[in-house]
Amino acid sequence: MQLDYEQRIKELEKANRILQKKLDRSESLRIALEETNEKKEALFLKVIDELRESQRILEEQSRDLEETLKKLRAMQSKLVESEKMSALGVLVAGIAHEINNPVNFIYGNINYVTQYASEILELLKCYQETYPNPSLHIADKIKKIDLDFIKKDFVQVLNSMEIGSQRISEIVRSLRTFSRLDEAAVKKVDIHEGIDSTLMILQNRLKPRLNYPEITVIKEYGNLPRVACYAGKLNQVLINIISNAIDALEQKIDDTQQSHYQTAELDTPQTSNFAPTIKITTELINNWISIKVSDNGIGIDEKTIQQIFNPFFTTKPVGKGTGLGLSISYQIIVETHQGQLECKSIPGIGTEFIIMIPEQQL
Ligand SMILES: Nc1ncnc2c1ncn2[C@@H]1O[C@H](COP(=O)(O)OP(=O)(O)OP(=O)(O)O)[C@@H](O)[C@H]1O
Ligand SMILES: [Mg+2]
Repeated sequence: MQLDYEQRIKELEKANRILQKKLDRSESLRIALEETNEKKEALFLKVIDELRESQRILEEQSRDLEETLKKLRAMQSKLVESEKMSALGVLVAGIAHEINNPVNFIYGNINYVTQYASEILELLKCYQETYPNPSLHIADKIKKIDLDFIKKDFVQVLNSMEIGSQRISEIVRSLRTFSRLDEAAVKKVDIHEGIDSTLMILQNRLKPRLNYPEITVIKEYGNLPRVACYAGKLNQVLINIISNAIDALEQKIDDTQQSHYQTAELDTPQTSNFAPTIKITTELINNWISIKVSDNGIGIDEKTIQQIFNPFFTTKPVGKGTGLGLSISYQIIVETHQGQLECKSIPGIGTEFIIMIPEQQL
């Protein structure tokens, strides 16, 4: 009986050992499994981190690319515009130069012609007084040519010729001021001369034309010193900003006419009391030159105003605007002249551009 028990205990102990061993093995298996899981998880997290990092790098690179593309576009537009402007400048300066000489012949000689004419008329008077009864042949001729009329008109013709040639001389001078080809570097200039020459260039858009009344230009020029600047480039800015103002006024006239057609009876005469006006004000404020150009045109809404200085931004129909004028002007004022260019506008009421440049260029 005793033996049986011992035998049984031994068997049980053996079974226990086997079980214990199995338990140990499965425990180590469990630990090994847990370890691999942890490793896998760590690996997984690492992969996610790396993916995130490469995504960030990619985003950064595409931002860089976008930035480079923007810069390239701006550079391209700058090149196109300055090429256009310098070609225009060469053409304008060439024409002005060619016209200058012949006009000077006329303008310079008109004084002599006037003087000779009055002397000849004087002599004629003398003859008529000395010989009050001319021969039949001469009396006939006097009647035929209407001498009294010629005597009166001669002086008037000469006067209008003088005014005309004086005007051509002024235009030629404006064209030369405007092109300022010889002034690629900083030079002290009269800003008002630049504004006047720009207005002269744009004269045909300011005059009354079919469907458009005359645009009134109000000049409020302050007392400005001669300003050191890139004159040709500054004129380019003025022509861009004033042309935009004219566009905005024409647009307003078009819009009012259109709404008039839509609302009015067809045979009602059109009455509009809109007086298109551009005002140019200059002043010197603490060593800064300020040039303000305002118009009472269509104005610009808040969303649009944030984009107007972007290259290629335009609200004008295809073929009318390239969207370059203001971005080029911004570069010229802010980068080339270390100045400021701002725009304020109230839709439907008008727009004001403020150019500020330091009196002295460093
Ligand atoms: N005085 C203004 N009144 C109303 N809108 C204006 C005025 N000046 C500029 N803008 C707006 O700013 C936009 C950009 O002007 P910008 O001069 O750069 O280009 P554009 O006149 O359209 O074309 P372009 O290259 O021929 O000058 C215009 O399309 C217009 O919408
Ligand atoms: Mg423009």
